[in-house]
Amino acid sequence: MERIKLAIEKAKTGGQSALAVAIEPVGESNQVSETAAAPEVPHLSPASIQYQKTPVVRLDEKHLEQHRIVAHQKSHQASWAFDVLRTQVLQQMEEKGWRTLAITSPTVESGKTMTAINLAISIAQQPDRTALLVDFDFRRPRVAASLGLHQNLSLNEVLEDKADVAAALVNPGMERLVVLPTHRPIAKAAEVLSSSKVSHLIADLRDRYQDRTVIFDLPPMLVADDVMAVVPHMDCVLLVIANGASSEKEIEECMMRLSKTNLLGVVLNKEESSSTQANYY
Ligand SMILES: Nc1ncnc2c1ncn2[C@@H]1O[C@H](COP(=O)(O)OP(=O)(O)O)[C@@H](O)[C@H]1O
Ligand SMILES: [Mg+2]
Repeated sequence: MERIKLAIEKAKTGGQSALAVAIEPVGESNQVSETAAAPEVPHLSPASIQYQKTPVVRLDEKHLEQHRIVAHQKSHQASWAFDVLRTQVLQQMEEKGWRTLAITSPTVESGKTMTAINLAISIAQQPDRTALLVDFDFRRPRVAASLGLHQNLSLNEVLEDKADVAAALVNPGMERLVVLPTHRPIAKAAEVLSSSKVSHLIADLRDRYQDRTVIFDLPPMLVADDVMAVVPHMDCVLLVIANGASSEKEIEECMMRLSKTNLLGVVLNKEESSSTQANYY
């Protein structure tokens, strides 16, 4: 806990805001009990379909729970944390007119993908917002697998000029949420992320709809220079730190590298807490 507080202090000294939301370990203990009525994934009503050409794929509720995708289940104890995070994130982004948000972490397995998906779902539940979730972790793309999406086209084909962006978008059966998945790892990830093709893609995704928040699930910062290649094209950044996954030095290194970006804050993932309240610092 101390090292995380220290990291947040570093963010403050950089003149940046220091939002921190703690997400407790999402496991057996706080999953909805077997006997509880299975919550339904909200369906699109015909009148509300905004992306008429985007295929709608119904997700499997059990698969989502196994991958800790719970933001759409208001009865789930963990979903409140993502709503708190959404409110904090949207407040800052709206104030500044920002629409693109990068999600990264110091090292792998910190919960970036889990956070990005749950945050996107939570944002899409705001009636006046739409959310687009883009898998930019070209080394370990996991958004589609976590959601259980298996459609043919993805960012792989878009970047190979074999498909348009519109053809690779998918609606995971939730209103106002669209996903642009990546199915296979992409070679030379840092070069691709810093290419003009990708910067045009980011601008296009941001500019197409005014009310859209675009969330990019990025690779970890300390594994390669992918993140620093693409972050200059993003409006703001959220750093996910998992309990026990990164050293104090690694957290400080990330804070330093992000000192010239708009760091919205830090998400403390897998943080053990005796309270079920969000922790702010
Ligand atoms: N709060 C949490 N509690 C328990 N397990 C978690 C939590 N957040 C993530 N996990 C698990 O940790 C693993 C890594 O999460 P993931 O989101 O794929 O991380 P990353 O994208 O940073 O590599 C996954 O198996 C995920 O289900
Ligand atoms: Mg990931």
